[in-house]
Amino acid sequence: MGIYTTVMDEVALYTGLSPTAFFTILAMMVVVYRTVTNMFVSPEDYNKPPVVSTRGNIRFDDDAKPAAEPVQLGEITEEELRPYNGSDPSKPILMAIKGQIYDVSSARNFYGPGSPYAMFTGKECSRALALLSFKPQDINGNLEGLDESELAVLEDWEYKFMEKYPKVGQLVPSQRTQQNEHKEQIQDNFDVGKEEAK
Ligand code: HEM
Ligand SMILES: *[C@@H]1O[C@H](CO)[C@@H](O)[C@H](O)[C@H]1NC(C)=O
Repeated sequence: MGIYTTVMDEVALYTGLSPTAFFTILAMMVVVYRTVTNMFVSPEDYNKPPVVSTRGNIRFDDDAKPAAEPVQLGEITEEELRPYNGSDPSKPILMAIKGQIYDVSSARNFYGPGSPYAMFTGKECSRALALLSFKPQDINGNLEGLDESELAVLEDWEYKFMEKYPKVGQLVPSQRTQQNEHKEQIQDNFDVGKEEAK
C-alpha cells in the first residue's frame, strides 16, 4: 500500500496530472503507437533486391516488368467484388466508395492480408468510412441515417481515393448489370416476336 501511494504521489508531483489522467494518457499513447507501427511493413518483409552479377553483363532496366496496368472491370455487383480481398495474389485488391471501385493494390501495407484495413477490401465500405467504424455491420454502402458531417467525412475519403488510386469500375445492384438488362431486352423483343408469329 505504501509503495502504491508513493508512486501515485510521485506521478502527481512530476506530471501535475491526477494519477488517473496520467495512466489514461499513457494507455492512449501505447494504443496509438501500436496502431501506427502496425501500419508499416517492417523492412525485413520487403523483398531484397536480387543480387545481380555485373561481370560482362551490364544490365539495363528495359526488361523490367512495368507496374501492372489496373484491370478495368466495368459494372459489377457486390458479390462479384468480394473475391478481390487480397487472398488471391493473382487478383488486384479492390474496395468501393459510393459505388465507385478503386484498385488499392499499390498500398498492400494498408490493405494486404493481415494489414490494418484489410476488412474493407472486396467490399463497399462507404458507411464504415463515414462513421470511422471498423464494425463488420457498418462495412456496406448504406448511407441511411448519416448526418451532414458524416457525409462530409465520407466525401473527404472519396477525394483521397480518387487522387490516390485508379478507378476500375462501379457497383451495380445484383441482377441489374448492363449485360443482364441487355439480355432482358433481347428476351423481351424475342417474346414479342413469338407473340406476333402466332
Ligand atoms: C487510432 C486511430 C487511428 C490511427 C492512429 C490511424 C492512423 C492512420 C495512419 C497514420 C494512416 C496512414 C496515412 C497515410 O499515410 O496516408 C492511416 C490510413 C488510413 N486510415 Fe487510419 N487511423 C486510425 C483510425 C482509422 C479509422 C477509424 C478508419 C476508418 C474506419 C481509418 C481508415 C483509414 C484508411 C482507409 C487509411 C488508408 C488510406 C489510404 O489508402 O491511403 N483509420 N490511418
Ligand atoms: C476473401 O475472399 C475469398 C473468396 O470470396 C474468401 O474465401 C475468403 O474467406 C476471403 N478472405 C477474407 C480474409 O475475408
